[in-house]
Amino acid sequence: MRKKILAANWKMNLTHSEAESYLETFLSEIGQVNDVEIVIIPPFTAIPALVSASEKVAFLRIGAQNMHWEKNGAFTGEVSATMLRALYVKYVIIGHSERRMLFGETDEIVNRKVRSALDAGLRPILCVGESLHERDSGEVEEVLRRQLRKGLENVVEKDLSEIVVAYEPCWAIGTGRSATPVEAEQSHAFIRSDLSELFGATAADRVRIQYGGSVKPENAEDLMRQKNIDGALIGGASLDPRSFARIIWRAEAALA
Ligand code: PGA
Repeated sequence: MRKKILAANWKMNLTHSEAESYLETFLSEIGQVNDVEIVIIPPFTAIPALVSASEKVAFLRIGAQNMHWEKNGAFTGEVSATMLRALYVKYVIIGHSERRMLFGETDEIVNRKVRSALDAGLRPILCVGESLHERDSGEVEEVLRRQLRKGLENVVEKDLSEIVVAYEPCWAIGTGRSATPVEAEQSHAFIRSDLSELFGATAADRVRIQYGGSVKPENAEDLMRQKNIDGALIGGASLDPRSFARIIWRAEAALA
C-alpha cells in the first residue's frame, strides 16, 4: 500500500511570520492525521520557522522548492542539499515546470539535482509533465519518457523508493483547468509502466506518483480515487490553510 502524500507548494508566497500563522490555523483545522503524509513546501526563508513550529507533528514534513546540485562553492544566490538537510528538510521539489520554463532548467540539470539530493539524504519530488502544445501533438508519452529517463539517469533501484514523482501537465498549472481523473490516471499509469521498465515492477510499484495542476477541494477526491494517483502537489489552493485542510480530508475520504 502506498501512503498518499499531499504537498503544499507555496511557490514565492508568504513571509516567515505569515507562515507561522498559516501553520497555527492549519494545525487547529486539521486535527490528527494518520493515513496520509503531509508536506509543506515554503520559500527558503520560511523553512526554519516552520521546521521548529512543526517539530512535534508526526504527520507533517517540511520541504524545499529547489536546490543547487553542488555541495558548496561560488554559486551566488544558491542553496545546497546539505544546507537543507541541516535544517531537517525532508523533501525537495526538483524540475518543477516553472524552473524548467522560467529558469532554463534542462533534464541534465534536473538529473544532477536528483542525484545530489539523494546523496544528501533528501527525498526528491521529481516533476514531469507535458505542455499544451505537446499534448495537442500527441507527444505526452514521449515527453514523460524522456523526462523520466533523463531525470533518473544513474539512479539505482534502491534509491527509487526515496523518490516521489509528480505528474504536472503544464496546461493545468495555475489555470483552474485540472486534468480529468481519467486523463491524469492515463499518464500516471504510463509513468509507472515506464518506471517498471527501468527499475522492475516491484520497485515501480512502491513509487508514489502525485498529481499536480489546479487541485482543489472540489476535484481532489475523484483524482485521489484513481489507482495510480498517490497524492497531490498543490499550488494555489494550498495558500489558504483551510482549503489545504479540505483537500486533505477529500484525500482521506478517497481511502474509504
Ligand atoms: P496549482 O500549482 O495547484 O496552482 O495549479 C501546482 C504546482 O505548480 O505545483
